[in-house]
Formats: sequence, C-alpha cells, structure tokens
Amino acid sequence: MLYEAIVEELLNEMKSGQLQPGDKLQSIREAAHVFGCSRNTVIRAYGELERRHRIYAVPQSGYYVAHRNHSSIEGTRIESAAQDIIDFEWAGPDRSAMPYRDFQHCLNEAIERYREDMFTYSSGQGLSSLRFQLSRHLRDLQVFTPPERIYVVTGSQQALSLLTGLPFPNGKQNIVVEQPVHAGMVALLQGYIGEVFGISYEEGGMDLERLEALFRDRDVKFFYTVSRFHNPTGYSHTNEARKKMVELARQYDVYIIEDDYMGDLDGDPKNDPMFAYDPSGRVIYVKSFSKVMLPGLRLGLAVLPDGLREGFQRAKAVADVHSPLLTQGALEVYLESGMFAAHIGRMREIYRRKAVLLQEAYRKHLPPGTAHTGSYSGFYTTIELPAPLRAQAVADHLLGRGVRVHPAQHLFLPEFRKEGVIRLSVSQVEEGLLEPGIQAIGDGIRELLRLRSGVKFVKRG
Ligand SMILES: Cc1ncc(COP(=O)(O)O)c(C=O)c1O
Repeated sequence: MLYEAIVEELLNEMKSGQLQPGDKLQSIREAAHVFGCSRNTVIRAYGELERRHRIYAVPQSGYYVAHRNHSSIEGTRIESAAQDIIDFEWAGPDRSAMPYRDFQHCLNEAIERYREDMFTYSSGQGLSSLRFQLSRHLRDLQVFTPPERIYVVTGSQQALSLLTGLPFPNGKQNIVVEQPVHAGMVALLQGYIGEVFGISYEEGGMDLERLEALFRDRDVKFFYTVSRFHNPTGYSHTNEARKKMVELARQYDVYIIEDDYMGDLDGDPKNDPMFAYDPSGRVIYVKSFSKVMLPGLRLGLAVLPDGLREGFQRAKAVADVHSPLLTQGALEVYLESGMFAAHIGRMREIYRRKAVLLQEAYRKHLPPGTAHTGSYSGFYTTIELPAPLRAQAVADHLLGRGVRVHPAQHLFLPEFRKEGVIRLSVSQVEEGLLEPGIQAIGDGIRELLRLRSGVKFVKRG
C-alpha cells in the first residue's frame, strides 16, 4: 500500500469521526501489519499527517489525532504570510512550522485543568506546575535549577525591563551591553538613569580585556549578553569566552544577564550556557518562548539568585500581577506531553539547514567589499555594506527588487552607530527562496555601487 493511501484512509476516518481528536493512532508496527505495508511507509504517512498538523507525536508514547475545530486558523495565518516579496525582515518564528493545532489542543486542556483558578488571581512567580516542567526542560539546556528559583514572565522583555529597574545586591549603577544589541534593549536603556557602556561583538567574540576594564573601573551593576545566536549578528560565544566572562563577573562583583532567547535551537550539547559555569550566583538566566514558539504567547522565564528574588517579585506584581494563566497552563501541557521536545527537534533541523544554505548563498552572491556574519542556526545574521552605501537606502532599493531587509542602525548605542549594516532573519523565508533572495541582494548592492560610481547606462531603442 502506498503512503498516500494510508494518509487518505486516516483522513477519512477523522472526517467520519471514527478517529476523534486526542485518539492514539496505532503504533507503526501495528499499522504496518494492518495496512499490509512496510514500517517505512507508515512512518512516511504519519510524517505527512504531522506536517499537515492533523496528528502530533509524543516521544516514547506515540501519535495522536490533533484537534481541528477552527479550520480557518491555519489557512488564514498561512495565507496572510503568503509572500510576493522575499521577507528577510520579519523576525517572528517560521509560520509554516508553528504547531498551532497542537497548541490549540494544549489550550483546551489548560482551560479544563485551570477552570477554577481562572476566577482568582494566581501566583506572581508563575504556576508551580509549569515551573516544575520548566525546571525539567532547562536541564536539557544544562541549566540546573529548582522550580523555586524560576520566575515566569510576560515575555523575556519583561524580565529585562524589571531587572534594569531594580537595585542590585552589588549596589552598583551602570550597565554594559553588547554592540549591536536588539531593539527592545536599546529602547529600554534609553531612559536609564545610570551610564550605559557598549562593547563590540565581533567575529571571534569580544575584547575581554576591555570587558575586564569596564567591570573593574565603571561601577557595573550588570553585563547583558546574548550568549547564543545573538540578535542581530547571529554570533555565539565560545565556552572559553563564557567561562572567562563568568570568572570576571565573580572577580569584580558584577552580575551577568544571560539572554538565551534561542538556546533551544542549539543542537550541540557541548555548548554550555554561562549559567552552567556560575558557582557564585551572579548569572541571571533569561529565556524566551517567542522565537521557538509563538511571540503572541508572551511567555518567558528568569532564573534568579537569592538576592534578587524578593525585589523582582515585588516589581512583577506592580507590573502585571502575574502572567496570563491560560497561556501558562497551555505551555505546561505542551512541555509535559513531550510535544515541545518534538517541536524543538524539528525547529533545530529547519534552522540548521537554513543557516547552511544562507552561508553558501552569501559566499556565492555577495559582491567584494561586503562582509557578513555567520551562524550555525538561529534566525539572524548581518551584512556590512561596502562604503558609501547606507542601510536605509539599500533596504528601500531592495524592496523595489522584491526583497525586504532590516536596516540595523537603530540596534547600536549612539557612539557605536553604523549606517551601513542590514540585518537578515531567515525565519520567514522558505529554503528554496534563500538563494534567490541573497542573489537579489547581491545584485541590488552591485547596482547601487555602479550608480554611485557614476556609470551611466544608456537605454537602447
Ligand atoms: C535577544 C532578544 N531577547 C529578548 C527579546 C524579547 O523577546 P520576548 O519578550 O518576546 O520574549 C528579543 C525580541 O526580539 C530578542 O531579540
């Protein structure tokens, strides 16, 4: 039997109600026996149904029929994402790979599970059962922490905002951030009362001697770093650099906010977060669910040292009492069922492949004089344009050629500002469009350089 026939058969059973949402499908071995085909054929059929979000896999358990009450959801989201331009600007997660159906199932389950709790306010720290699941999940990222130290926040931006506003146990005032840094952090720091120092994040890392000098001489409260798949460069620190930074933090009594917003996408278990090197409680680990799941969830977490817990809890209560119960509950179900782990496995593969294709396309199509950053996964990289091109003019020109990119000048503190850098996110771009997109960017840059150098084109005819 062909795999398409099995797909058809199972879809018919779902349509007729023989198979209900939540029902477990036959194991691969049983199905191969029943359909009289090889196990590989069943695996292919189940894979296809999973891709269409009609079933979902739970590791070590099996395959289940997904809920499908609102057939419009998938259609409208994908339709609205339909691209007539190649969009390297939009930095939300890959729409086509998002587990709407599975998550819908989790939301339904959460409404049932927390029906009574919805009538009252709940813990500002976050649901204890969710924190238990988060603590288990964090172990996979080499972050070993009890649930008591985990604080659920309304997006990791909230953790950054609350921490920036809090007095720290070291009694210091100033902040050090990598340059460039994501727009949310730039905006947050604009009104900061202390001084903000930047440190350049280059290929191969950062100048650790300068970092040490800042820590030693500048009354630094915390150093904010995105340890993997940095936004916008895509760079990740090496284990050696992470260790050294943690050691400097201990030596000079500085806290580190380690923003591991895309840590889930790192498939290499040898890459440790800074948190894993921190015996002194100076690393605050922050994580987002916006890049690997859905930004609309507005969920993130912070793992806090003792000296900050009370102040943070108070600030969180003032900000929004607690993060929404329903999405917390749904994330709990998603983690507990193993769906999150399966989803992460798929995401890792998608972004790893895209990173390889992107780097190949950069090498092939960008003109000399153009530099680009590299990453082995994640969403972001940057292109440094040849002088005298400016990012905004290039972005406008490329839009006319059907490609959207993000001018990156606002991702720098004023004294680090560069006018010739664009950021690319691969999250919305299908694999097959990566190379044509980069080719169009390369051609667009060449075209602008020719125009700039005054070469005149004469129209024939
Ligand atoms: C590096 C980094 N950290 C944190 C955030 C904030 O994410 P959220 O508040 O959606 O969790 C962003 C948003 O893009 C980001 O790029």
